[in-house]
Amino acid sequence: MGRNMALPLLLALAALVASLPSGSVATAGTAGAFDSWLSANQKDFAINQALYAKKAVGDTGSTIDESLSKAEDNKTTYVVDPKGGGDYKTITAAIDAIPEGNTGRVILDLKPGEYREKIFLNLSKPYVTFKSDPKNPAIIAWSDTAATLGKDGKPVGTVGSTTCAIESDYFVAYGVVFKNDAPLAKPGAKGGQAVALRTFGTKQAFYNCTIDGGQDTLYDHKGLHYFKDCVIKGSVDFIFGFGRSLYENCRIVSIVKEIAVLTAQQRTKTIEGAIESGFSFKNCSIMSEGGGDIYLGRAWGDSSRVIYAYTEMSKEVVPVGWDGWNIKQPESSGIYYGEFKCSGPGSDARKRVGWAVDLTEAQAKPFIGTHYIFGDSWILPPPTGNSPPSKKGSSGGAPATSPASSPESADSASSPESADSAASPKSASSASSPKSAYSAASKTKKKEL
Ligand SMILES: *[C@@H]1O[C@H](CO)[C@@H](O)[C@H](O)[C@H]1NC(C)=O
Ligand SMILES: *[C@@H]1O[C@H](CO)[C@@H](O)[C@H](O)[C@H]1NC(C)=O
Ligand SMILES: *[C@@H]1O[C@H](CO)[C@@H](O)[C@H](O)[C@H]1NC(C)=O
Ligand SMILES: *[C@@H]1O[C@H](CO)[C@@H](O)[C@H](O)[C@H]1NC(C)=O
Repeated sequence: MGRNMALPLLLALAALVASLPSGSVATAGTAGAFDSWLSANQKDFAINQALYAKKAVGDTGSTIDESLSKAEDNKTTYVVDPKGGGDYKTITAAIDAIPEGNTGRVILDLKPGEYREKIFLNLSKPYVTFKSDPKNPAIIAWSDTAATLGKDGKPVGTVGSTTCAIESDYFVAYGVVFKNDAPLAKPGAKGGQAVALRTFGTKQAFYNCTIDGGQDTLYDHKGLHYFKDCVIKGSVDFIFGFGRSLYENCRIVSIVKEIAVLTAQQRTKTIEGAIESGFSFKNCSIMSEGGGDIYLGRAWGDSSRVIYAYTEMSKEVVPVGWDGWNIKQPESSGIYYGEFKCSGPGSDARKRVGWAVDLTEAQAKPFIGTHYIFGDSWILPPPTGNSPPSKKGSSGGAPATSPASSPESADSASSPESADSAASPKSASSASSPKSAYSAASKTKKKEL
C-alpha cells in the first residue's frame, strides 16, 4: 500500500495565498447524495453498536484484549539515559534489546534530554511504552525531509523522512516530544515534507506528548490511535493519513504566517480498510502561532472524514473551513466533514463549504468518545506512576492494569440536544462554493505516496 513510495506534495501554496477566497459564493449542492451518505454513516454505527457492546464486555468479563492483559502482567523496564546512567544510552539500542515477538510490556524509561536519533519500531515488537516526564521530557529529534537522500542515493520520501516510526501494536507514549527540526520549508515546497512521527500499528496511545514539525508533522498512517492531552504543531497537512483516531484535549497549533491545513485525511475506497478511517477531534483547541489562515482539512482521499466536536477555534480558521483539494464533486464523493458544538471566533459554521455538516447529536455520537476507536478493549491509563524495576532488577510481578476509567458511552458523551435545535446539513443557500479559489489553485496537486 505504498509505504515505500515518495510523497511529493506539489502544493503551490504561494498561488493559494494569492487566490484566497475573499468572500463566499453560494451555490446549490447535491443534497440528495449527501443526505444518503450521512444516513449510511449512521446506519453503519447502528449495526456496529452490537459489536461495540460485545467488545466492551469481553468473553471473561475482562474488558481488555487477552494478549494485552497478559503483557500487562509481565512488565519489564529498560532505563534509557543519554548521559549514560541507565541500561542504554540510546532508544535504538534499547529497542534492539527487545526480543522479536515480544509478549510482555517493555517500558523504556526515558530520562530527560535530547535523543538525536531516527527511530524505527518494528511490528515484531509490540507492547512497548516510551515513558517520560511531560514536565522534563525526553526529546526525540531528527531533521530529515522527503528530499533527504537515503543510503541508496535516492530521496527518502515522506515516509522515510520521519524521526520516529512506530509500526508495532499496543504502543504507548507518555510525556515524549517527537520532533522533526528540519528548517521549515517554503510553503508547499517540493520535498519539504518532514514527518516527526508516523504511526502505523494499531491500538496505540499517546498521552501528554508533543509532536512538533512543519509540513506533514504527524503521519497518522494506519490503525486505531488515541491522542490525549497532546500538542501537535505544523504547517501544511500536518495531521494526515488513514488512521482511525481520536484526538482528545489536544492543542493543534499552526506555526505559519501563510496558510496552514490541519488535516489531510486519506479515507478512500481504493485502499483496503481505509474506508474505516477518519480523524475525530474532541475538546481540542485550534490556534495559530504564526498568524496565517487555517483550514480545518482538505480531502486527500475521496471519502476523507474529519470531525471536530467541542473544539475551540481561533479567529485564523477561515470561514469556508474546508477544501476539497482535487476532488471534483466533494458533495457526492463520500467526503464527511463535520463540526459539533465548537466554539471560538473561527467556529462560525454559516459560511462553511456546503458539503460540510453541522452535526446533530445523533450524527456526532459515533465519533465523540473512545468507542469510536473501540477503546474499551485496549486503552489503558497513562503510565504516570513508578515503573517496575529495571530489567537488571527483578522483572514482572505488577498486577494487570485495569482499563482506563471506563471510556464514556455514546450517550454520556454530551448533553442531549433537542431535535429542533439540531442543525441539519447546511442549506445550499448558506453554503459557499466548494470550487473556491483555494480548491481551484490546488486542483492539479496531488499527494502521492
Ligand atoms: C514476559 O515477557 C518477556 C519479554 O517479552 C518474555 O520473554 C517472557 O516469556 C514473558 N513471560 C511470561 C511468563 O509470559
Ligand atoms: C521487521 O522485523 C522482521 C522480523 O525480524 C524483519 O524481517 C523485517 O525486515 C523488519 N522490517 C524492517 C522494515 O526492518
Ligand atoms: C497532561 O496534560 C493534561 C492536560 O493538559 C494536564 O492536565 C496534566 O497535568 C498533564 N500531566 C502532566 C504530568 O504534566
Ligand atoms: C478539555 O480539555 C482541557 C485541556 O485542553 C481540559 O483541561 C478539560 O478538562 C477538558 N474537558 C473535558 C470535558 O474533558
